[in-house]
Amino acid sequence: MTILYAATAYYNGEQWMAELNKWFPDEIVERWPDVADPDAVEYLVCWDLDVKEMAAFTNLKAILVAGAGINHLQPFEDIPNVPLVRLVDPAVAGDIANYAMHWAIHFHRHMPTYAQQQRAAEFIRHPYAGTGETTIGVLGLGAIGTVIAERAIANGYRAAGWSRSAKSVEGVDLYAGTEQLREFLGHCQIVVNVLPLTPATDQVIDADAIAAMPDGSFIINVGRGATIDDDALCDALTSGKLAGAALDVLREEPLPPDSPLWKHAGIFITPHISGFTYPETAVALMAANINRVMNGEDPFPVVDRTIGY
Ligand code: OXD
Repeated sequence: MTILYAATAYYNGEQWMAELNKWFPDEIVERWPDVADPDAVEYLVCWDLDVKEMAAFTNLKAILVAGAGINHLQPFEDIPNVPLVRLVDPAVAGDIANYAMHWAIHFHRHMPTYAQQQRAAEFIRHPYAGTGETTIGVLGLGAIGTVIAERAIANGYRAAGWSRSAKSVEGVDLYAGTEQLREFLGHCQIVVNVLPLTPATDQVIDADAIAAMPDGSFIINVGRGATIDDDALCDALTSGKLAGAALDVLREEPLPPDSPLWKHAGIFITPHISGFTYPETAVALMAANINRVMNGEDPFPVVDRTIGY
């Protein structure tokens, strides 16, 4: 039985190989593109392997994706029909939540204004809305979104959450389904977007959705860039409808140098760094899933192919 590691972007391949060998000392662990016998490959640990290459592995038992998002694996329909398992690592979820809190507090406490004032040597104080009266809304209340909502509460904020189907998270005002999206947005001074990219979420934050948000509110995007309509976002920032945005994910990555997003005064861009994957904890979670499949149990979280995440 072979475990094949196939990833070129973002990751430190040697460390992943060392971790996989540590967990599976009695199995063959290979690194793409060096595959001795494609028929022997039962577990594919991958990030950016071209989907058409996967057809060569006729005895696959599971595909373990080295990240939370799977929208880059296209065409989706051509991914072999075995459990497709996402990686949801609490260590990374915690880092993403810290990133979201950093920007939420930065915006809530007027830090962009103070940065401008410093350049003009201006010592002017601005009152801010009470922390307990400020709602941080998490758009996409999955495993990562739940940690963000809980961290918002731990920092004294109110938390709201929206998900496709109803959830229950202690202390969080919950909204579900398309019919409650606008109502949710209307209650949030700061929206943290954690949505995956699927046909249903493509540009879901459009001009109408932004219009439903309170005047002067903020967006922080740690989900996927294409869930936001960039033109609508820029228009809303220019008109003052939105007061700021922090974008860690972009429709096109790397963001092209000529993108207007770079230059917009209300936008802060980071290069998809809200949560780096840690090979040690990631492979431990994947090894547990491989062992589950070996023992006839279900791995998790498995992508629901009907909804695309
Ligand atoms: C992921 C990501 O999907 O890095 O894990 O965005």
